[in-house]
Amino acid sequence: MKVINLGIGYVGLNTAAALAWIGHDVCGVDIDPAKIEMLKSGKAPIREDGLDDLLKQATHLKYTTDISNIINEADVVFIAVGTPSLPNGHANLEYVNAAAKTIATTIMPTHDVTIVIKSTVPLGINAAIERRIRAFVAQRGGDVSKLHFASNPEFLREGCALSDTFYPDRIVIGTDDDVAFKMLSTLYAPLLDQSFAIPPSVPAPANRPKTQLLRTNQTSAEMIKYASNVFLALKISYINEISGLCEKLGANITDVATGMGMDKRIAPYFLKSGLGWGGSCFPKDIKALLQIGGDYGYDMPIIKAAWDVNENQKDRVVRQIQDELKIVCGKKIAFFGLTFKPNTDDVRNSPAVDLANKLIALGADVVFHDPVGLTNAKKVYADDAFSFADTPIAAATGADAIVIATEWKDYATLDYAEIKRVMNTPFLFDTRHVLNAAALRNIGFTYRDC
Ligand code: UDX
Repeated sequence: MKVINLGIGYVGLNTAAALAWIGHDVCGVDIDPAKIEMLKSGKAPIREDGLDDLLKQATHLKYTTDISNIINEADVVFIAVGTPSLPNGHANLEYVNAAAKTIATTIMPTHDVTIVIKSTVPLGINAAIERRIRAFVAQRGGDVSKLHFASNPEFLREGCALSDTFYPDRIVIGTDDDVAFKMLSTLYAPLLDQSFAIPPSVPAPANRPKTQLLRTNQTSAEMIKYASNVFLALKISYINEISGLCEKLGANITDVATGMGMDKRIAPYFLKSGLGWGGSCFPKDIKALLQIGGDYGYDMPIIKAAWDVNENQKDRVVRQIQDELKIVCGKKIAFFGLTFKPNTDDVRNSPAVDLANKLIALGADVVFHDPVGLTNAKKVYADDAFSFADTPIAAATGADAIVIATEWKDYATLDYAEIKRVMNTPFLFDTRHVLNAAALRNIGFTYRDC
C-alpha cells in the first residue's frame, strides 16, 4: 500500500521505517527541511535502537516537505505530529490542525483513502478533524465518499520504539467505517500475523504474545491511549509511594516490587521505583486527561494524586541528600544520567533535570554526565546553570556526591574505586537502583538507595 506519514518525529519516523520494512511504499513528510535533508542523506535525527540500520536498508522509504505531489496516490495518510502541553495543561492541537488543513487543501480523492490520526489527541478530536476535512474537500468539489477516517493510537516507547512497532501487544483501530478498518487491517496484516522478515537490527523479543487487534469507535480509541499512559504513570507513582514507606520501615522496595510483580494480575512491569516518571508523554497526557475531566466537571482524584506523588518524589530525594550532606549550598553534585530514561537521547521533561534544579535552588553546583544525551542537553539547557562533563570521572572529580539519575547500564560497570579517589566526599545516591550497594559500601562509599 502507499502510505504517507505526516510528521516524522519519534512516532512518525519509527512507524514509517517499520511500514516500509514490511513492504509498503512510504513517504515521510515534515515541514522541517533540515530534518528531511538529514533523512535523505541517510541519517536519523533521533537515536533509536536499530533505526540507523533500518533506514540504510529502507528502499521503500522516501521523504519530502511537499505533500501535494504525492497525496493523491496515497492509500493511507497518517497524522503523527506532536501534541505538546499548553500552559493550562490542554493538548496543543496547533500541529494536528495544520496537518489536517494541509490534507484538506491538497487531497482530491480518486480512490479510497484512509486518513488516520496517530497523534495523541483529546476525546472528540478525531471526529472534529474528520468533519472539517470532509467539509473542506466537499467545498473544493472532491468526492468525499472516497475519504475514510480512523483513530490509531501508538503505544511505542522511546528507546525501544522499533521493537514496540514491529512486535506490538495490540493494534487499536478506532473507526465505524468498514472500509477504513479493512484498509488498516490489510496495512498491519504482516505485523498481526508476524509474517515479515525479522530485521537484523530489531530482533523479536523472547516469548512475545501474539499481537491483538481491537476495533472500537474513534472516541474509545482516543481514550485507550490516555487511559493506558496515565495508568502506567499511576502504577509508577504507586510503587514510589510504597517505596517511601519501605524506607521508613526497613523493607527493601526492590524485593517488594519483585514480590508484587510475581502476581499475574499485577505483572512486573512499570514497578520500578526511583526519581519518578518524565518524558514527552506521561506528563502531558496526565495533564490533558485532568483538563478533559475538568471540562466535563469530572474530578479524578487518583490521577491528581499520581501527579503529586511524582512531584514529591524529587523532593524526597532532596531530603535524602540533605540528610547525608547536611549543607547542600556550595557542594558540587555530579549527576550520572540526564535523559528521562535510558536508551534515548531525549532530554525533555527529565526528572534528573527537575532534581538538579531543586539542588541548584539550594545553592549546589550541578555537573551532568550522560552517555548519549549531552549533545541535546547542551542545546535544550543552554540557559540553565548546569555544567556538563564528557566522562563520569570528569564529572566526579572534586564532587561531594554522585546522583545516579538515569538507569543507564553503563553506570553499573564503572570503576567506582577510581571514582571515589577523585571525589571530595564519597556520597552516592542511587535513584534508579542500578548499583551493587554492598560492593560500593565495601570500597568506602556512603551509598543510599533512594
Ligand atoms: C510512554 C508509554 O510507555 C508508551 O506506551 C507511549 O506510547 C508513550 O509514553 P515513554 O515515555 O517513551 O513511553 O517511556 P516509558 O518507558 O513509558 O517511561 C516513562 C517514564 O517512566 C520514564 O521517565 C521512566 O524512567 C519512568 N519509569 C518507567 C519508571 O520510573 N519506572 C518504571 O518502572 C518504568
